[in-house]
Amino acid sequence: MARARSNTVTSLLDQCFEENRKWARNAVAKDPQFFKRLEALQAPDLLWIGCSDSRLPPNEIIGRKSGELFVHRNVANVVEHTDVNCLSVLQYAIDVLKVKHVIVCGHYGCGGVRAAMSPQPLGLIDNWLRHIRDVHLWNREELGAITDLDERANRLAELNVEAQVANVCHTTIVQDAWSRGQKLTVHGWIYSLSDGLLRDLGTVVESSEQIPSEYRLFY
Ligand code: CO
Repeated sequence: MARARSNTVTSLLDQCFEENRKWARNAVAKDPQFFKRLEALQAPDLLWIGCSDSRLPPNEIIGRKSGELFVHRNVANVVEHTDVNCLSVLQYAIDVLKVKHVIVCGHYGCGGVRAAMSPQPLGLIDNWLRHIRDVHLWNREELGAITDLDERANRLAELNVEAQVANVCHTTIVQDAWSRGQKLTVHGWIYSLSDGLLRDLGTVVESSEQIPSEYRLFY
């Protein structure tokens, strides 16, 4: 039996459908072939791996239209080598869509990173955030020297991006692509909620030679 929804919820969801109809009408008004073209083909050159945070909609931030950006998002943009969800996105993007760049984008003021610095238990998500606690541990000296907690969290967010870029590169998917000569570059970026600007962390990996021998596979 359907449960009655409050008026507030009904109007919020109705508004979503109303906005959707408006968006679809405008898209066709501007370009009558818009949906026909997208229905037939998506050809993104970029895969974005970012945080689920509602304040950073990837397409808007970098001005990519529908069909131009393949996206995977999770809490604190973690790439974990047994996460079938993330690996499936990566594999489809690289093997089938043939994206040329994978971007791991973190952000300053990340709640997930901040939670990974706190002893306060939050439930299941603590197991996910453990990956960021590892990054914290590997960099404890540098991070421990930063007294301001916000600054420390922001630096950890940067180090987390670098660690996740490495995780992308260590996957069989990326190493396999490089071994067959496919052009693919992995980048680490960070977004600032305070000014809306992206910064390139300068982490750029484009070949197996940049991977530590412990992770390297020879095909
Ligand atoms: Co975040």
